[in-house]
Amino acid sequence: MKSKILVLNWKMNPASEKEAETLFSFIKKHAKRPLVIAPPFVYLYKFSARRDSKLKIAAQDVFYADKGAFTGEVSAGMLKDAGVWGCIVGHSERRVILKESDILIKKKLQAVTKDGIAPILCVGEREKESVYKAWAYVRGQLEKDLPEKLPGNMLIAYEPVWSIGGDKETDANHSEKIIGLIKKYIKKEFGKKIGVLYGGSINCGNIAQFLKFDTIDGFLVGSASLRKEEISCIINKINN
Ligand code: PGA
Repeated sequence: MKSKILVLNWKMNPASEKEAETLFSFIKKHAKRPLVIAPPFVYLYKFSARRDSKLKIAAQDVFYADKGAFTGEVSAGMLKDAGVWGCIVGHSERRVILKESDILIKKKLQAVTKDGIAPILCVGEREKESVYKAWAYVRGQLEKDLPEKLPGNMLIAYEPVWSIGGDKETDANHSEKIIGLIKKYIKKEFGKKIGVLYGGSINCGNIAQFLKFDTIDGFLVGSASLRKEEISCIINKINN
């Protein structure tokens, strides 16, 4: 099996620094090859100081300007200064709940790229539909979101919105097809090969269905990344 990239998206969890510390220490102890933790902003400095060859840190969002009067926002330069390796951009929760537009997402991608941070762009259709229709939606997102040049460290996470939530239906065959189409599109439009992850209700019980596809370069894990037994099981399955 090809080696897989694992990105743990904690979202707005855990609720306290103490719990975050316990979870971080557990993951650091069990990490077998490079994996990425994306904690809330307030924990970035603390955890990036403890990054090592097996553990990288990513942010869950960024703002496009370098500095200035943007209350509540954080720049890519600040992330870099905090020792952050990557940044999730355009997660569906931000697209849907915070109404982030493709124009904004493109600017954010340009900002992180400029500062050398690895962008992890999230795309995915909202409702369950055929591969044909889902690809038309995802392709539209790629056309609108991607800047003219893609950095070598860029990742895309295909996350069908109907699978996000930790306990939702997943479809490995459908996802593998869309991921293949994303890769073909990037090769054709940008002349590049980039890593494409799958995200949406991945857990210890269903990961094997996805692991059989070499097309899938890794996983963006939300809910299961907060549960110790799930994390160690996922790490073991990926490394076997
Ligand atoms: P989930 O979230 O694993 O809880 O479905 C994945 C994500 O939103 O990145």
